[in-house]
Amino acid sequence: MKRLVGKTYCYDEFITTEEQRELRHYILSLQDFMGHAKSNGYKPEYDILVRQSTSTTYLEKYGITVHPLLIDIRNRIIKLEELYEPIIHDPRLGDWVGMTDEDAFVEPHTDLTTDEYSDYNIRRYNVIVSMPNEGGQPIYDDEILDVGERALWMCEASLVKHASVINQGSRMRLNISYGFYVPKSLYNVN
Ligand SMILES: [Fe+2]
Repeated sequence: MKRLVGKTYCYDEFITTEEQRELRHYILSLQDFMGHAKSNGYKPEYDILVRQSTSTTYLEKYGITVHPLLIDIRNRIIKLEELYEPIIHDPRLGDWVGMTDEDAFVEPHTDLTTDEYSDYNIRRYNVIVSMPNEGGQPIYDDEILDVGERALWMCEASLVKHASVINQGSRMRLNISYGFYVPKSLYNVN
């Protein structure tokens, strides 16, 4: 099930089609709590594009229930990838859910921690809940990754520049990004 792709790896069919359907409804139901994404190389002309996201930290702060399935999948990732102490769950955003529509895309960027967590790299495990009719693939270190719906793929978000191919067609790109902070010291050992 694990497959090397570009300079990273993925797990195909990480979620079932039933889970995919459930998560699609859930993410679309959160639209009112989402803000327009203004990070990752924002330009005012992108305001016409649908690029929205929210995070579990935000939802919890405002008393909005995080879907048990989202947490169940997080626990599956933790077990599969052995994300235990000293690796910690992203203390700032937790996990984020995002939706992007036609013509939208992720600008090339890396993600850095705040100074308080400067000893950590951010690593994100992305679950592709739905992909646009065309485009939408992740770009990782300038390589387009051949990953599709229901896959999980790993992103060393602090270390490797990442982006996405421009969405084409009216099907939404929906993504859940599970966040972990990995101590930099763990990268120096074999
Ligand atoms: Fe990122």
